[in-house]
Amino acid sequence: MGHKIEHPPGAAALSSSMRDIGYSLDTAIADLIDNSISACAGMVDVHFREINGENIIAVVDDGIGMDEASLQQAMRLGSSVKDNRRRSSDLGKFGLGLKTATYSQCRMLTVASRQDGKIVAVTQDLDEIDRTDKWLLTLHNGMEIAKIPLLDCLPKSGTLVLWRKLDRLDAKAVSAEIAALEHHLSLVFHRFLDGEATGKKLEIKINGKQVECFDPFCRKYQATQHFAPEYVAIAGARVKITPFVLPHYTKLTKSEYSFYNKISNFYDNQGIYVYRNKRLLIWGTWLSTASRSEITKLARIQVDFSSDQDDYWVIDIKKSKTRLHVDVRKQLSRLLPGVLESSSRIFKRRGQAIAEVNPDKSHTIWERRAASGKVFFDLNRNHPLLQKVLTALDGTDRQLFKNYLDAVVRQLPVNLIYSEFSSDPNSIETGVEPDDVLLNKLNELYHAVCIESGCGWNDFLSMVKIIPGLSGRDDLLSKISKEA
Ligand SMILES: Nc1ncnc2c1ncn2[C@@H]1O[C@H](COP(=O)(O)OP(=O)(O)O)[C@@H](O)[C@H]1O
Ligand SMILES: [Mg+2]
Repeated sequence: MGHKIEHPPGAAALSSSMRDIGYSLDTAIADLIDNSISACAGMVDVHFREINGENIIAVVDDGIGMDEASLQQAMRLGSSVKDNRRRSSDLGKFGLGLKTATYSQCRMLTVASRQDGKIVAVTQDLDEIDRTDKWLLTLHNGMEIAKIPLLDCLPKSGTLVLWRKLDRLDAKAVSAEIAALEHHLSLVFHRFLDGEATGKKLEIKINGKQVECFDPFCRKYQATQHFAPEYVAIAGARVKITPFVLPHYTKLTKSEYSFYNKISNFYDNQGIYVYRNKRLLIWGTWLSTASRSEITKLARIQVDFSSDQDDYWVIDIKKSKTRLHVDVRKQLSRLLPGVLESSSRIFKRRGQAIAEVNPDKSHTIWERRAASGKVFFDLNRNHPLLQKVLTALDGTDRQLFKNYLDAVVRQLPVNLIYSEFSSDPNSIETGVEPDDVLLNKLNELYHAVCIESGCGWNDFLSMVKIIPGLSGRDDLLSKISKEA
């Protein structure tokens, strides 16, 4: 029999291949924050700074920190893979995140940590690893430690992770990156930010600005439907499945709607939200259990599992991919039809509500019609105002005008309206005019319809109240001049 030799990978090749496993700036920083949370931090500050002409990113926490031995261990690839004693609140997994997240964004990593009053610090530089083909680590002495940028931000106990040689950061896009990061963190750590996960609110700041918690289930609204949680047992631990159906957008204020829609576009973010130890891993997909659609866009399902069940979830290094366990998938297929139906019912109900507001069809301007299994929209040809205009025109002009109306109806841009409306219903302006212009038009209308054609006041009111901008405007209607 031959003999065994140790056969480690080449440092230069492995470190450079590690850079492209698909992190973005926000997922990379979230991975550092996972470490801060596992180290029981109550606050995490993210800094984007330019120091002596050099761009740096730093993440500082007030967690338990590390001593020299733990810090050296932390800098190893796969530092804790054999460690089976992880607490069930630990967000770490492979012992890779600190390194893989860092090198996806930059070429130089310094970590300084304070524990029991003592600061220890190390630096790893990919250029040096490239040159020497060795996993070299610089252990800093006191004088070097004192010169580490932002060291004064390090609390009595905690850790500073510093990224330098940011070769992948586009200096022109920094503010856009910061905005994306803020959205990402507010969602991924929402259960830490609101205190649900640990009983104490985690504080995250980016350049001094507090990251607000974003609840993807809009739980603070009464109109949100909460379903009773269901449980699936896997390997002696439980997976919790909790469905929610968000309120129709009209139940939110305009600013709430735009906040939710901007950060969590309703259509793209329907689906299953998978949490590991209360940290959001995946969202915005039905994970092949259903298809995304306009009418199911208010449905969300929260799925919670703990790291004890990691072996059953197949999680990737970036903690952004997983596979649903077959028993969870079965349970979801059972409860999904009811949840999706609740979302579609909200839209169907809105459709009925519009019909109920305008019971008198003779006063609506547009009509929804159905023929040969198809739906189309047409002008209400019996509308009193249209009738009035038609009688005022002579034969040729009347035909010309009717032809024009037919063309308007045929060219109604249904697809365009639908796509604008589904991406942001509040962005559609329905032609509301200033009060004085409206009042002038109302006076003219009153004259034509009531005085000249003998329409009664109540009929007139029900006709004009459905015009956008006039419902609830009794103040304006009371100013109509009723003199002939
Ligand atoms: N901010 C931090 N505070 C304390 N310890 C840390 C911090 N960041 C990293 N560590 C230590 O470094 C180890 C390796 O981190 P990492 O490479 O992210 O892998 P993992 O989180 O999967 O263990 C962690 O398990 C932890 O012991
Ligand atoms: Mg980690």
